[in-house]
Amino acid sequence: MEFKEVIGRRRSIRFFDPDRPVEREKIQKMLEAARLASCAVNAQWARAVVGFRDDLTDDQLKRLKTPVAGLNTELAPVHIHWFNDLGVVRRNEGRPLKELVDVGALAPTHGWSHKFVDDFVYPQILKPLTESPGYPIASTFDVGVAVCQALLTGVDEGLGVGLVTLNGAVLKEVFGTPDDWIPLSTILVGYPAESWDAGGQRPRPPFEEMYHEGKYGQPFKRDDKVVEELKAANMIQAPATSNNPARIAEIKKLAEKYGLPM
Ligand SMILES: Cc1cc2nc3c(=O)[nH]c(=O)nc-3n(C[C@H](O)[C@H](O)[C@H](O)COP(=O)(O)O)c2cc1C
Repeated sequence: MEFKEVIGRRRSIRFFDPDRPVEREKIQKMLEAARLASCAVNAQWARAVVGFRDDLTDDQLKRLKTPVAGLNTELAPVHIHWFNDLGVVRRNEGRPLKELVDVGALAPTHGWSHKFVDDFVYPQILKPLTESPGYPIASTFDVGVAVCQALLTGVDEGLGVGLVTLNGAVLKEVFGTPDDWIPLSTILVGYPAESWDAGGQRPRPPFEEMYHEGKYGQPFKRDDKVVEELKAANMIQAPATSNNPARIAEIKKLAEKYGLPM
């Protein structure tokens, strides 16, 4: 699938076919995509544990779920749980940056050398960063970048994907993760039981309300020609509408099929 269409077709899928397994290779492809994501100082905070729903006990599955992610989690055969490994910077002491110097990604033209990393970047930027209260939030941004790549790769592989936030304390306990791994969100993976379109692209605030140019309050002007080009590339698709009879009928059919309340 073309890149722009992958972005356009992604929806948070909440109805998975609970009985159709996902090929292991497709999960690997999602993880490979996450691993290639850009990350500040190449630290690579993102960690994941792949959980196969049917390997969980009923009690574990019940305890993982939250009120806003319960049914989705039950229906999805695979759960990729993401964590932020807060310990990477301390353990690596600037090594990933030196590797970037060695391969010429960070060049002397821009002031980079092993000495610059040892004398300045690690002691004066990275180490203090790990000691600041904002560290978990700053590094979680990087995990989000990786998770997004995994998510889009799942769509490209014809899978249904949806992010949910499960019970972090239970995740840590069930999967035995280290103390300094912060539990984040989970990508639910499966084949969609709903149509891939799932009623259309979900509502967003107006473009010019979200993006500014030059200074706050000055909207970045949206060019209709660009919008048309992205529509032609299937990136911008028909928006989901309220009380869409076709979507209501689809949900009713799914409710009947899986014995769900309506
Ligand atoms: C970090 C994150 C956590 C989310 N957690 C949940 C969740 O717990 N339950 C849920 O139904 N949707 C969850 N979502 C999905 C959003 O609600 C979704 O993005 C929104 O409905 C917009 O729809 P779209 O993703 O189909 O464009 C989460 C999304 C993100 C990015």
